[in-house]
Amino acid sequence: MKTFPLESVGPPVENAPPFLDELLEVCRRPQPATDEELLAALRRVDVSAAEAVASAMFDVEHYSRWTLLKTDHVQVLLIGWLAGQGSAIHDHSGSLCLFRVLAGCGAEMRYRIRPDGKAVQESVVELPTGEIAASRDADVHRVFNPGVSGPLVTLHVYTPPLNMNYYEEVE
Ligand SMILES: [Fe+2]
Repeated sequence: MKTFPLESVGPPVENAPPFLDELLEVCRRPQPATDEELLAALRRVDVSAAEAVASAMFDVEHYSRWTLLKTDHVQVLLIGWLAGQGSAIHDHSGSLCLFRVLAGCGAEMRYRIRPDGKAVQESVVELPTGEIAASRDADVHRVFNPGVSGPLVTLHVYTPPLNMNYYEEVE
């Protein structure tokens, strides 16, 4: 198991799509937003699936992470996933991860970790457009675009900013 920060792609933050203005404003407050305030701001994001797809970054090689904001308290990512693209199996290493599906239909595989450190899949949850999910700290999961409904766009708020631990799935 290893921990390391993640690199980002995408244009500078000042070019963030306008539909994220309010969320980013809440995240930038000098008085750090509570988990409930972050969740409420994520729920209030008002964007069509088509606009979300037009705004996200995509890469034919792998899913594309765009860091829109990173402070000591919070990190906001817009992630574009083409059909068949998925994350590694990971936890959130002390962070709360709130995420919302802005376009497409994703899948979330959830895992438990064996004493030998290997990940065993326990469930698969469908993530349709509009779904809001939370993963806390030691929850282990993987997000994937099965591709049944085109590109997947997800909006993520991590508090504090994310460092993931990665796991290998049992053979
Ligand atoms: Fe995650």
